[in-house]
Amino acid sequence: MIPVILSGGSGSRLWPLSRKQYPKQFLALTGEHTLFQQTLQRLDFEGMQPPVLVANLEHRFIVQEQLEQLQLKSQMLLLEPFGRNTAPAVAIAAMQLLAEGRDELMLVLPADHVLDDQRAFQQALALATVAAEKGEMVLFGVPALKPETGYGYIRANAGDGELPDGIKRVEQFVEKPDAVRAASYVKSGDYYWNSGMFLFRASRFLDELKHHDVDIYDTCLLALERSKREDGHISIDAATFECCPDNSIDYAVMEKTQRACVVPLSAGWNDVGSWSSIWDVHAKDDNGNVTKGDVVVHNSRNCLVHGNGKLVSVIGLDDIVVVETKDAMMVAHKDHVQDVKKMVNELDALG
Ligand code: GDD
Ligand code: MG
Repeated sequence: MIPVILSGGSGSRLWPLSRKQYPKQFLALTGEHTLFQQTLQRLDFEGMQPPVLVANLEHRFIVQEQLEQLQLKSQMLLLEPFGRNTAPAVAIAAMQLLAEGRDELMLVLPADHVLDDQRAFQQALALATVAAEKGEMVLFGVPALKPETGYGYIRANAGDGELPDGIKRVEQFVEKPDAVRAASYVKSGDYYWNSGMFLFRASRFLDELKHHDVDIYDTCLLALERSKREDGHISIDAATFECCPDNSIDYAVMEKTQRACVVPLSAGWNDVGSWSSIWDVHAKDDNGNVTKGDVVVHNSRNCLVHGNGKLVSVIGLDDIVVVETKDAMMVAHKDHVQDVKKMVNELDALG
């Protein structure tokens, strides 16, 4: 099995700490190691080959430095000149593997998640392997407990006789529903969140991509063909890749394929995708506050206050996120932290 780690995201929902030049996967947000390094460490067991990394060209040296710190090596480093989202990133990795005659199982992993229970992860993987060997497109599904709008939602049935016990057929996949629909899915109790981790054979993924989004398929094939191969990495051809549609694997393939199935995953998964999930994963004081840095909090509850140099004091606030960095400061209500991404896009538009 070949892990394919996607680390080209910009982590904009964790602005102002996460920046384009140094996004959240390369930050130590939840412990001694960065999220990218924790992902690498999770793969240290028998049967797992060294990872294929798909990263942004701009992060090349950060990736290499963080691998070296763990004394690890990748088997392939694919460098994108700019992000075109996850469907092209996975496509290029699959195409390169096939070009090398290695039509193996690909374990696609985001570089920026937390998983507490390694045993449960490996058990889920063992189950998923049985289905992926038979040509299924496996998603790892986390029981949906809160109406988060940043996730894909999956309704699954009991299985269709073709699938091994414990694996369910996907009946419906809805990527990032609005808040009303997300709430109704959670209320029904029948839905899983898509964890963003997938297992399938390289050729199966490419067949599905060709069927559901032939533009991405054709452009990636050409971009890879024209890419520069040098010194342990492959730089994807920018002029060709520029023409590639921007789409996620979820919208381009997983919402549409008939071959998707779910392996349930209860392993303390968190995508650390927003400031409220950072609050979720950290230890809290008696009033539910999470603080980091030089911070004073009075008469406040369930806040996240993250200082990064200056003294930050907070008085009489509930459910508020305060993040201070050298050049920017953000104050937001915990219920609105998904909108940080929109705000960052607006800032980008302003230049
Ligand atoms: N190489 C590369 N290139 N990686 C990318 C790119 C890209 O253009 N865009 C994103 N990634 C990486 C990110 O760094 C992250 O590790 C992973 O791919 C997923 O991308 P996100 O941008 O974080 O996706 P998301 O969080 O909005 O949604 C996905 O994950 C959710 C769970 O966390 C979807 O799969 C949802 O369905 C899912 O619920
Ligand atoms: Mg994410």
